[in-house]
Amino acid sequence: MSDRPLLEVRDLTVQFQLGGGLFAPKRTLTAVNGVSFEVMRGETLAIVGESGSGKSTIARAVMRLLEPAAGTVHLDGDNLTALSGAALRAVRPKLQMVFQDPYSSLDPSKLIADIVAEPLVVHGRARGGDAAALDRTVQTLLEQVGLGAVHMNRYPYEFSGGQRQRIAIARAIALEPKLMVLDEAVSALDVSTQNQILNLLEDLRTRTGMAYLFISHDLGVVQHVADRVAITYLGRIVETGPAARIFGSCAHPYTQALLSAVPEPNPRRQRARRHQPLAGEIPSPLAPPSGCPFHARCPHAMDVCRREMPAHTAVDGGGSVACHLQTEGPRLAGKPLAADTPTPP
Ligand SMILES: Nc1ncnc2c1ncn2[C@@H]1O[C@H](COP(=O)(O)OP(=O)(O)OP(=O)(O)O)[C@@H](O)[C@H]1O
Ligand code: SF4
Ligand SMILES: [Mg+2]
Repeated sequence: MSDRPLLEVRDLTVQFQLGGGLFAPKRTLTAVNGVSFEVMRGETLAIVGESGSGKSTIARAVMRLLEPAAGTVHLDGDNLTALSGAALRAVRPKLQMVFQDPYSSLDPSKLIADIVAEPLVVHGRARGGDAAALDRTVQTLLEQVGLGAVHMNRYPYEFSGGQRQRIAIARAIALEPKLMVLDEAVSALDVSTQNQILNLLEDLRTRTGMAYLFISHDLGVVQHVADRVAITYLGRIVETGPAARIFGSCAHPYTQALLSAVPEPNPRRQRARRHQPLAGEIPSPLAPPSGCPFHARCPHAMDVCRREMPAHTAVDGGGSVACHLQTEGPRLAGKPLAADTPTPP
């Protein structure tokens, strides 16, 4: 097995042009700003952040559903950003996506059998048009996600949210992708259905060796699935690291605030945890703050934070963080700030 990353995203920037009409001046919204990360084969990388932090835009740029303003996306050695037409279609089977709302992503007028078979037909994997063979393949795919042949001749409206998400996953694995992008794929489900789908994903990953780019606003969900975590804020990655390090000793005050919102089942640990609720709202990407984008909401903000964008620095235990506390003040990772530590001036 190659130790080269399956997915390599470098300096990805995505912008939207707004306005330009008679009354609205033209403005550029930078939704993703110089983001770099990689996903190894068979690995789950979670991308986590509040609403509007750019998670879906990253996913859509990786999927080539929109054009980046800058940066590159390599999948399995191919530079996706440089491909188009037939060359791009040829690599598409390696990369599949599951969305939050499986109802709107499943065509309500089609039978489940046709929905799951569609990618096989489109990519010419329907074995010379042999309908019986295609039916058997669809049945096998449905069995892999815990559904049966009895479900093939039904319509999406006949299924619960969890079952619809299983159907979306069956369709996504039909072409045996190497990477599945899951954008809030369990966010609309109740907790017990969420757990069933997460178990299914884990089981599929073990059996097939595929990797996941798992996007969520909820660190509590991510805790159960991620090997590594990337935290996004206002279109940038502010902290990355192995899941054990992020959950055991995070280094960015924003990560700490997100973590403090995750319910802790152990009451003793819950009491010991310093609760740091997030104050205020994520700023508009049309008017990003100077310096560190988190400074207006950060309990540890220093003068330098308002002036200078922090660079990423390595963190003990793996990964990196973009925070001046790493270099200018008392550190967070591995040496938590005590409750009585004065906030630096
Ligand atoms: N098509 C678009 N046109 C203009 N602005 C957009 C467009 N898509 C996203 N944006 C803006 O880009 C920023 C990032 O949006 P994005 O949907 O990627 O965030 P997100 O992290 O996925 O949020 P959520 O958790 O709500 O799904 C937001 O400010 C959003 O308003
Ligand atoms: S750089 Fe400063 S404002 Fe930004 S997260 Fe770190 S301490 Fe807070
Ligand atoms: Mg989103």
